[in-house]
Amino acid sequence: MNLILLGPPGAGKGTQAKKIAVKFDLPHISTGDMFRETAQSGSELGKQLQGYMSAGKLVPDDVVIAVVRQRLSSDDAKKGFLLDGFPRTLAQAQALDKALAGDGKKIDGVISLTVDADEVVRRLSSRRVCVACGASYNLISNPAKKEDVCDACGGKVIQRADDNAATIRNRLEVYREQTSPLIEYYSSAGVVREIDGMQPVEEVFKKICAVIK
Ligand code: AP5
Repeated sequence: MNLILLGPPGAGKGTQAKKIAVKFDLPHISTGDMFRETAQSGSELGKQLQGYMSAGKLVPDDVVIAVVRQRLSSDDAKKGFLLDGFPRTLAQAQALDKALAGDGKKIDGVISLTVDADEVVRRLSSRRVCVACGASYNLISNPAKKEDVCDACGGKVIQRADDNAATIRNRLEVYREQTSPLIEYYSSAGVVREIDGMQPVEEVFKKICAVIK
């Protein structure tokens, strides 16, 4: 099963992807997580990636496509995968289709999470993440038990550099212009299922599971 989770920033892609990956035993491949990890390394590439992310701009297609192709060639992705945050442009979607077709594969389903802009701003401005293990918290809906300390590993919990009002606005605009056309691209292949992402996490998860099954 080769799946894509599509949706604007803050739609709940990462939250749902973690749960889907466990339930359906699929590797969760998040380009955002991969880029943040590289950025943390402090390498030259990491500094460039951080520059794009902090500004709410997309990382150039050639860089993203090379990273994803390499990740998809890993053994654990041979039986299927769940992509979160990729593809984000038409060029990325076409490159993915081409790479999969070369292996006799295709995208089986695209789960499109919908949320309105006010909810995106509310969720992202209150999101906090652990720098050590990546666990995600929310000051409103899911706070860490002890302020700024990760429940899971004791690491420091911070606000992502791109979760400020100005950058959130840019990210929403980039999504509208460059990523939302992918819904039509995949609709023409008949694989898109839209899910209302405004519901509580468990409700959204139930609906996604029903669609996948
Ligand atoms: P990425 O990390 O992919 O960011 P994003 O798409 O903007 O998505 P987010 O991680 O912000 O949100 P999410 O939908 O995962 O929501 P979450 O579950 O965390 O990308 C970051 C950057 O990397 C990009 O801007 C770009 O620069 C670069 N990049 C990455 N991929 C790229 C690509 N393919 N091409 C080019 N550049 C790329 O939830 C958000 C908050 O809401 C959390 O606090 C959560 O607890 C809460 N929440 C979740 N669900 C619910 C719910 N149902 N009800 C209430 N609260 C909820």
